[in-house]
Amino acid sequence: MIEFILNNETIRTELSPGMTLLDFVRYEANLRGTKIGCREGDCGACTVLLGKLNDQRIEYSSATSCLTPLANVHGMHVVSIEGLNTEGLNVVQQAFVDSSGTQCGFCTPGFVTSLCAYALNCEKANVSEAVGSMDGNICRCTGYKSIERAAALVTEKLQGKDQNQSLNWLTNHNFIPSYFEDIPEKLSQLPASLVNKGHTAIGGGTDLFVHHQDELQESSLNFLFRKKELFGIEFSETECIVNASTTATEFFENSRLVSIFPGWHSVMKLVSSTPIRNIGTVAGNLANASPIGDLTIILLGLNAKVVLSVNDFPFRTVKLSDLYLGYKKLNKKESEIISQIKFDLPEKDALFHFEKVCKRKYLDIASVNTALQIRLKDENIIIEIHCSIGGVGPIPMYLKKTAEFMKGKKLSPALIKESVEILQAEISPISDARGSADYKRLLARQLYFSHFHTMFPDMIKLEDLL
Ligand SMILES: Cc1cc2nc3c(=O)[nH]c(=O)nc-3n(C[C@H](O)[C@H](O)[C@H](O)COP(=O)(O)OP(=O)(O)OC[C@H]3O[C@@H](n4cnc5c(N)ncnc54)[C@H](O)[C@@H]3O)c2cc1C
Ligand code: FES
Ligand code: FES
Repeated sequence: MIEFILNNETIRTELSPGMTLLDFVRYEANLRGTKIGCREGDCGACTVLLGKLNDQRIEYSSATSCLTPLANVHGMHVVSIEGLNTEGLNVVQQAFVDSSGTQCGFCTPGFVTSLCAYALNCEKANVSEAVGSMDGNICRCTGYKSIERAAALVTEKLQGKDQNQSLNWLTNHNFIPSYFEDIPEKLSQLPASLVNKGHTAIGGGTDLFVHHQDELQESSLNFLFRKKELFGIEFSETECIVNASTTATEFFENSRLVSIFPGWHSVMKLVSSTPIRNIGTVAGNLANASPIGDLTIILLGLNAKVVLSVNDFPFRTVKLSDLYLGYKKLNKKESEIISQIKFDLPEKDALFHFEKVCKRKYLDIASVNTALQIRLKDENIIIEIHCSIGGVGPIPMYLKKTAEFMKGKKLSPALIKESVEILQAEISPISDARGSADYKRLLARQLYFSHFHTMFPDMIKLEDLL
């Protein structure tokens, strides 16, 4: 049985765990404020809030309900737009009215929900972050300026938010209804785990549920998203261990990783949108085996390994670069799931950089993406180097030959120019909707140069490379 709280009501249901949350909210709970737009995670009309308990503290985030299977909200607080109404309009809704941020109104519940998620989460509110929290929402009427003004109004009202008594402050200031304050206690009484014996592994569902939603309702699915043992990121003295159901948001917001890798947090904005990152998992990105998966390219650049488990027991560890055998073909048995991803913590003097080019800057998948990790010793000799690239072959690629050529040599513009020839021989791009083969070869070269120019601006000048 799946148990969760929807707005202020506890739900216990035996309905198919593969039913989408969107269908449950609209057709079972009859809450029609949550809208159906694309059913593919692109428009944000179906956005809801998901609240989960973390050590007695509740954390809320926005999520696309069209891609969320019911099983994934087991033990959570789900909030639809109806559950955000206070006595009258809440502060966020009023801000949309005051700034004419709504016209036909179809997108408005999604925008309001995303901005409420920001109000619940933010530490020190600022306008650009508030606007950014709606990056998964599309409006075809307003032209967005009025919505940005609504975000500015909300930001103003959030000044002075008490972080220690966040729910209480937000209730008193009319952001959320007062029943929110009772939710942590209610959630703590729900069973934490879902008994689940399905077959096909599923994390956040942001890849699987884009297609075949009807078939998935009837399929035997192994829901991993709410498995406690697969939550979160851990560190040993030498390693970072990312458990499978860590979301992309948790990955990019991890304070230790942010402190280790300069620019780590800003890469996040290049990956999907806030509500997709809030539910899409790291293991899902690797297992979906897309040649342009961003987290895959980042983790290949970090020379990561994956732990494959069978029936909850670790079975074997393989290098991520050995996981991909061919287009969407994995070195993994059907019974094996990715339970952990591990990579060595970089030495203090190591540098890491990620580049992505797509047709539009945000909410788009890459034409080409690439990551590079490098460490030099005295005299600028390369003692460690790992380079990955996506979009230029049937699999996400670890550039083994290029890295082998570079290792042990002195870094210089001439060496980079020589090594790019090896890179070009390693890749085999084809022409498709993301660009011609020639264009992708050009991108591969430019982005490879950009790694070195960005990491060593004094030593590697662009004019010496071009
Ligand atoms: C609108 C939109 C924008 C997107 N933008 C980007 C983007 O910019 N960059 C990007 O890289 N991706 C993007 N994606 C793709 C997707 O969100 C990511 O790949 C995400 O990380 C997938 O994770 P998930 O948990 O949702 O995968 P799921 O859909 O749950 O699963 C994906 C695949 O992995 C398998 N799987 C899941 N977990 C495991 C496991 N632990 N062990 C074994 N197999 C497993 C499933 O069987 C399935 O085949 C986007 C998706 C959408 C809908
Ligand atoms: S309906 Fe468009 S994102 Fe869900
Ligand atoms: S107000 Fe019409 S789609 Fe946004």
